[in-house]
Amino acid sequence: MEVVRLASETDVAGWRRAARALRAGGVAPEQTLWTVDGSGGDLLAGSAMGEGGPTGAGQAFTVPRAFIELADLVALHRSDERFALLYSLLWRLGHEPRLLEDASDPQVQRAHRLAKAVSLAAHKMKAFVRFRQTRDEAGDERYVAWFEPAHRVTELTAPFFVARFANMAFSILTPDACVHWDTEALVALPGADPAEAPREDALEDYWRAYYASIFNPARLKVGAMQKEMPKRYWRNLPEARLIPELIAKAEGRTAAMVAHAPSTPARRVVRQVERKMRDASFEAQAMNNLEELAAAVQMCRRCDLWRDATQGVAGEGPGRAKLMLVGEQPGDQEDLAGHPFVGPAGQMLDKALAEAGAPRDQAFVTNAVKHFKHELRGKRRLHKTPNTGEVTVCRWWLDAERRLVRPRVIVTLGATAALAVFGKPMAIGASRQKAHQLADQAQGVVTYHPSYLLRLPDADAKAKAYGLFVEDLAFAWSLAA
Ligand code: URA
Repeated sequence: MEVVRLASETDVAGWRRAARALRAGGVAPEQTLWTVDGSGGDLLAGSAMGEGGPTGAGQAFTVPRAFIELADLVALHRSDERFALLYSLLWRLGHEPRLLEDASDPQVQRAHRLAKAVSLAAHKMKAFVRFRQTRDEAGDERYVAWFEPAHRVTELTAPFFVARFANMAFSILTPDACVHWDTEALVALPGADPAEAPREDALEDYWRAYYASIFNPARLKVGAMQKEMPKRYWRNLPEARLIPELIAKAEGRTAAMVAHAPSTPARRVVRQVERKMRDASFEAQAMNNLEELAAAVQMCRRCDLWRDATQGVAGEGPGRAKLMLVGEQPGDQEDLAGHPFVGPAGQMLDKALAEAGAPRDQAFVTNAVKHFKHELRGKRRLHKTPNTGEVTVCRWWLDAERRLVRPRVIVTLGATAALAVFGKPMAIGASRQKAHQLADQAQGVVTYHPSYLLRLPDADAKAKAYGLFVEDLAFAWSLAA
């Protein structure tokens, strides 16, 4: 019996060397025993093969590339049989060169099952690693994550995190291995203890707010959600703490959304608006107040967007607000509820306004375009950006709101709002933190759209952009005051 001692559970290189030597030396799978003893180096010590040298002096052989790729994944599975299974396949390939094409072969099937489980574990690791901000003794920032992968995929997934967070010093600690990136070199070391990973930091609240804001109760499918985010990963996900509560409240929140939709203007107002629209040309009508304006928005046929929308969504807030916030267009939830900024972007806006010390209930909140532009993908309504023509014709409503409210400061959220308010495209990064004089005596302040922040994939970039967003809202509020 040949006993192979691999240096570690992920010693794939050691497995390859030993397997090559054993096969070249004609040692059959039944005569081999694969073990991991952690001592390293001496793969075939004490065996006839070891004395002959582990590189194998026998005849050279090649294996299909597909086998190498399969073996690289299977070797990372937690099953104890993996190295023996792989050696058995390698051995059989010598006389069955097309073995891997035989999908009914039990060993081939088993290897593919193990490889699939490893790929899935790598996918979950990419999705569920959450970094916590720390500082080392020198005061330098380092992001540290604790993670327990289903299989030994830490080193396999490390290049993904390096590509994604190239400028961020990070460590991912797992029970199997730890990888450390200092923005120049990646180092892999043995596994760690969960006590070595930090648990809480300032970004946790941010993650939770983000998760709560993207959670749409009307689309809740508990089974699918738990399949995608299995419970074994919840322990290290800051947002997981919210899940039971969000699930429990989903029914109530959906009912509230349905109860809101659609909101209808008073019949008296509708009749007045209809009369005015019969009396003279629509454009010539200056609506007298915000209530009439909201009713008139329901009858708007200035472009085709009304056809697919549930209803028009006019601006809301105090009729004499000093601050006006202009978004792009109602989203899926705003279209159903009939109110601006009540969905995920609205929740992020609310949080940022609160942090900026600018109370939302003292601002007039509206959109450049009053109907939800979208396309159907199955049952989902996917947002589509309004084009310049749609923004231009809808400006009639925004201008009417500006005339009625007469805000001191108008904040444009994102590029579409800036186009509608300034009448020309504005570069957001270069224009923010400045007061831009507008023709109607108001000052314009340019900032990002909250949906842009929600979409940023990189946690670090997201936190930074969110900070700038809060700064811009605070700047606008101080100007308005
Ligand atoms: N995005 C917007 O621009 N406006 C809304 O009302 C909601 C989302």
